[in-house]
Parts: sequence; structure tokens; C-alpha cells
Amino acid sequence: MSRPHCGDASLPSCLVTFVFLQFLPAGNGKADFRVLGPPDPLLALVGQDKELPCKLSPNISAEGMELRWYRDQPSPAVHVYRNGKDVWEEQMEAYRGRTTLTTDHVARGEAAVRIHNVTLFDNGTYHCIFKEHTSYSQATLWLRVAGLGSAPRIHVIETQDNGIQGECTSAGWFPEPKVEWQDLRGRKVPAVTHFSASATGLLAVTSTVAPQDGAVEGLTCSISNPLLPGRKGQYIQSYNSTIRRTNTFSLKVRL
Ligand SMILES: *[C@@H]1O[C@H](CO)[C@@H](O)[C@H](O)[C@H]1NC(C)=O
Ligand SMILES: *[C@@H]1O[C@H](CO)[C@@H](O)[C@H](O)[C@H]1NC(C)=O
Ligand SMILES: *[C@@H]1O[C@H](CO)[C@@H](O)[C@H](O)[C@H]1NC(C)=O
Ligand SMILES: *[C@@H]1O[C@H](CO)[C@@H](O)[C@H](O)[C@H]1NC(C)=O
Repeated sequence: MSRPHCGDASLPSCLVTFVFLQFLPAGNGKADFRVLGPPDPLLALVGQDKELPCKLSPNISAEGMELRWYRDQPSPAVHVYRNGKDVWEEQMEAYRGRTTLTTDHVARGEAAVRIHNVTLFDNGTYHCIFKEHTSYSQATLWLRVAGLGSAPRIHVIETQDNGIQGECTSAGWFPEPKVEWQDLRGRKVPAVTHFSASATGLLAVTSTVAPQDGAVEGLTCSISNPLLPGRKGQYIQSYNSTIRRTNTFSLKVRL
């Protein structure tokens, strides 16, 4: 278990945190309620807002309870709500100004933290803990963050030995996307694909094909994110881009 991190918190709140931590190893407290989170990992796109909901079972009111969402250690937390108010002093730096608590249904035991402008940093495991006096219960949630990159830009480049290649580039992906080329007849075309990570961890793609016959017209570059469900729901999963009219002809003339 990690040591309680008191930081610049005042001594009383540091003690409270410490006492609070003492409760945790026992697992669910002797509470007559349980906290439930979504059973499956939640999925969010970089830049979107995402709610991490938790609720009480039975659906008694959570008004007056302390509600806390946290990652590795209970404090500093992702979001803390106590005595009907947000407690910003106990929030992690990384979430400052990026969370709001939805308490519309707190009377039936439901609350959710909304993370704004999701980044790759937000990927991982979360816990929510509902506490009343010395009773508490907690649930674990998983958030998977995906990056849907830009539409591929595709163009024809001339190689040093006067050959031609199709090149497809796109940025903003996570995790590594699937990149595929197809010819006019829908057959796969072998390609060389490289990924490079930006400062935020998102991946840029460069993929090149060198068709034997030099016919790049009609080649399609497809990039898709393996995490995103195809066509269902709100997500666009893949992009296709096709070389329609090319400068192949002029390049050939120059050979
Ligand atoms: C609690 O759950 C029961 C059963 O699902 C439902 O009938 C009731 O309306 C809920 N109470 C509140 C306050 O939402
Ligand atoms: C979202 O986060 C990114 C990366 O931290 C930042 O560059 C961008 O300005 C943020 N957008 C908004 C709307 O806050
Ligand atoms: C993101 O979080 C999920 C769920 O907790 C985890 O399975 C996955 O390994 C994490 N991915 C990265 C790249 O950290
Ligand atoms: C891209 O091409 C693939 C393979 O031909 C196809 O299955 C997919 O539906 C296309 N996606 C879009 C967005 O057009």
C-alpha cells in the first residue's frame, strides 16, 4: 500500500487521510450498502468528455455521503465530494479544472465524475468509494482511451531510382492502428508502415507501397483503430483514402 501523501494539505486532513487508509485493506466495510460501477471497461476518445458512473445497491440516497474517485491512492484523488461540496484541495494536479460531478440522481444513490478533454494519461484503473461515518464500500472502473487519428493523406512520391510509391500519412492514433492498402480489385498490397509517438503519446503513421507495375492509381489506404467498434454507435472506426487521379503519368514520362 502506498504511503499517504499529505503534500501541502493541512495536518488534520492528512490525519483524516491516514485514518481513511487504515480502513481500506479490509475490503468492503461492514456497510449495509454496496457500490457498483460499470462491469466492463469504458471507452473514451482523446479530446472527448467521459463520465465514470457509480451507484449504490440498494438504491438508497447518497446525500451526505463522502464520494471519492481515485486512481492509485485515495488522496490526492481524481474528485472528492463531501458535505455536499467538491473538495478541490484533495484533487490530483492532473485533473485540476477537468472534472465535474453529476449529482442529479444522488437521492437514488447515483453519481458520476465527468472527465473533460480526455487524454492518454486518463487511461487505466479507477476506484469510487462511497463513505458514511465509518461505513464505506467501493467499486473499480476501467477506462480505455483511444485516439482516432486524422483522415489519411495520400500522395504519390518519386523514389531516388525513378520508381514511384504511394505514401499514406495520418496522425493522432492510439493504440497502434491497423493500416492496409488495397488495389482497384480489392486485393491486399504489401506495404512498409512506420509509427512514431508524439509528446502526448499519440501515434503518427507513415505507410508506403511500391507497386510492381508502377500503377498507383486506385490504391486505397485504410487506417482503423482496433479498439473502436466498426460503424456501430457514435464512433467512426476507420478511414479510407484512395489515389484517384495521380501524377503517375507525368512521372512516367519523365523516366
Ligand atoms: C430503486 O429501485 C427500485 C427497484 O429497481 C425502483 O422501483 C425504485 O424506483 C428505485 N428508487 C429510486 C429512488 O430511484
Ligand atoms: C485538451 O487537452 C489538450 C492536451 O492537453 C490541449 O492541448 C487542448 O487545448 C485541450 N482542449 C480543451 C478544449 O481544453
Ligand atoms: C489502459 O487501461 C486499460 C484498462 O485499465 C488497460 O487494460 C490497458 O493496458 C491500458 N493501456 C495502456 C497503454 O496503458
Ligand atoms: C474502407 O474499406 C474497407 C475495405 O474495403 C471497408 O470494409 C470499409 O467499410 C471502408 N470504410 C469506410 C469508412 O469507407
